[in-house]
Amino acid sequence: MALATRKFDAVVVGAGGAGLRAALQLSEAGLRVAVLSKVFPTRSHTVAAQGGIGAALGNMGEDSWLWHMYDTIKGSDWLGDQDSIEFLCREAPKVVIELEHFGMPFDRNDNGTVYQRPFGGHMQNMGAGPAVQRSCCAADRTGHAMVHTLYQRNVRANTQFFVEWLALDLVRDASGQVLGVTALEMETGEVSILQARATLFATGGSGRMFQSSTNAFINTGDGLGMAARAGIPLEDMEFYQFHPTGVHGAGILITEGVRGEGGMLLNKSGERFMERYAPNAKDLASRDVVSRAMATEIKEGRGCGPGADYLLLKLDHLGPEVIDKRLPGIREISIKFANVDPVKDAIPVVPTAHYQMGGIPTNYHGEVIVPQGGNPSAVVPGFYAAGECACASVHGANRLGTNSLTDLVVFGKAAGDAVIRFLKENPGEKDLPADAAERTLTRLARLEAQKNGESVHEVGAALRRTMQAHCGVFRFPDMLAEGLHMIREVAERVGRVEIRDKSKVFNTARVEALELENLIEAARATMVAADARKESRGAHDRADFHRRDDANWLKHSLWYRDGDRMDYKPVNLKPLTAEPIPPKARTY
Ligand code: FUM
Repeated sequence: MALATRKFDAVVVGAGGAGLRAALQLSEAGLRVAVLSKVFPTRSHTVAAQGGIGAALGNMGEDSWLWHMYDTIKGSDWLGDQDSIEFLCREAPKVVIELEHFGMPFDRNDNGTVYQRPFGGHMQNMGAGPAVQRSCCAADRTGHAMVHTLYQRNVRANTQFFVEWLALDLVRDASGQVLGVTALEMETGEVSILQARATLFATGGSGRMFQSSTNAFINTGDGLGMAARAGIPLEDMEFYQFHPTGVHGAGILITEGVRGEGGMLLNKSGERFMERYAPNAKDLASRDVVSRAMATEIKEGRGCGPGADYLLLKLDHLGPEVIDKRLPGIREISIKFANVDPVKDAIPVVPTAHYQMGGIPTNYHGEVIVPQGGNPSAVVPGFYAAGECACASVHGANRLGTNSLTDLVVFGKAAGDAVIRFLKENPGEKDLPADAAERTLTRLARLEAQKNGESVHEVGAALRRTMQAHCGVFRFPDMLAEGLHMIREVAERVGRVEIRDKSKVFNTARVEALELENLIEAARATMVAADARKESRGAHDRADFHRRDDANWLKHSLWYRDGDRMDYKPVNLKPLTAEPIPPKARTY
């Protein structure tokens, strides 16, 4: 069946911070850009980012990009690539000032500069401390402010948006070059090909693979699924971050900015327990450390409430003025979802699935890279990725808070620049292969024809239960082995899901079935890679291999969908210009 084809210079899939920043770069260069988004751009998950964007502006006291680089490397438990990390930290002040000039409504100091708050793992003096104020924020709605600013800039630059379009599969030719995507227009149910000389994924994370998650319902790992089906490996997927403070029972994020402003975690005895786990940084240790400490308090019976299954985040001592000025969203969320007004009472919180450190492998230009012919980092022509779906890799085994927004704009912009260079150097347009849409049409035909199949809802619930119970903050060998078996069974069930409603117009049942086909790839990659890595590092904590093992495991993992194959590649310990930061013990 021949599908309608639309042609562009570049297609960007995803309209959160990374997609919008990349699209802006491309549109302002005069290119014909299509941005596909499942939702209206200003509803992208970036709007949920609260506490700030990390950049060593030094507005509140001394700071430097080198200190930021050190903290990010240490936070990554030395699994981050030091060239990418240097790039991130050096570019950060420039992109934040650029956002300011775009009109982003940052909070201000009395002298007019951007206000910055402390955040976990960000320290002065190459990690020696004390905490540095590095997080540039717009109250506790920084992502919201960023997305609206970038969307408006894109409107000004005439970027063309395809809203409520779901990208389905990558189009690759026989040489491996990427030539666009197939996509479903939800309003009509029509499928078409968006042909492009360059394709950039900014599709976000896969947080909906866990039962309790800070992530929006749209975060179903779509870019990961498309890449994996097209033969691209996924990197470092075993490293999944649990944010220490999700609202107990609801999962909604309570920003680390609360602790940055002076809030503290308490157990059932009212003890500020982080003093025992991280004597220097306390509540502002990095997220993996705080989440593990909280899980330990709960496991050892020091949790609060009737089920002893949460801890308390106390901030009433900050006073209503600070709370209303710096953390107004948190007050609103706590009242609505926890029935607690934080100016009087502490918020019940638990570690909650939040961020995927791994993703589609890229270099710091946003070019997708795969091992090929002895080269561990061969560029896939025409294919780019940025933001949470990508692994640049700056976050390594554990991301520092605020570095996700920095990642979006630094690598969104860099990937846009790389596309511009590629298009200049490769001016011609390649023909689509005859089988360009074959994978998509086979998937859709299977879904149409399936009889007596499985329910999307039930299979999705089994996926989430399995990931939550078997691949959480602490990982046990028997649970991982059982989880691996179970997630493979879930994968088989995904291949048999059925939709009863076959109508075309806004058929959300079909969309959810197709999203589940992406989510299972992210879940399988996470479980397989977690089972394979026999050490503890950053967010990956194994009861049977309790220590970091640099001799055997200072390497990136690569998961291939075919046969659940694992491969590995070296970590780049050489920054671009700075002195390398060699691995050492990580304490806070
Ligand atoms: O805690 C927060 O505001 C989340 C920030 C982040 O994930 O970077």
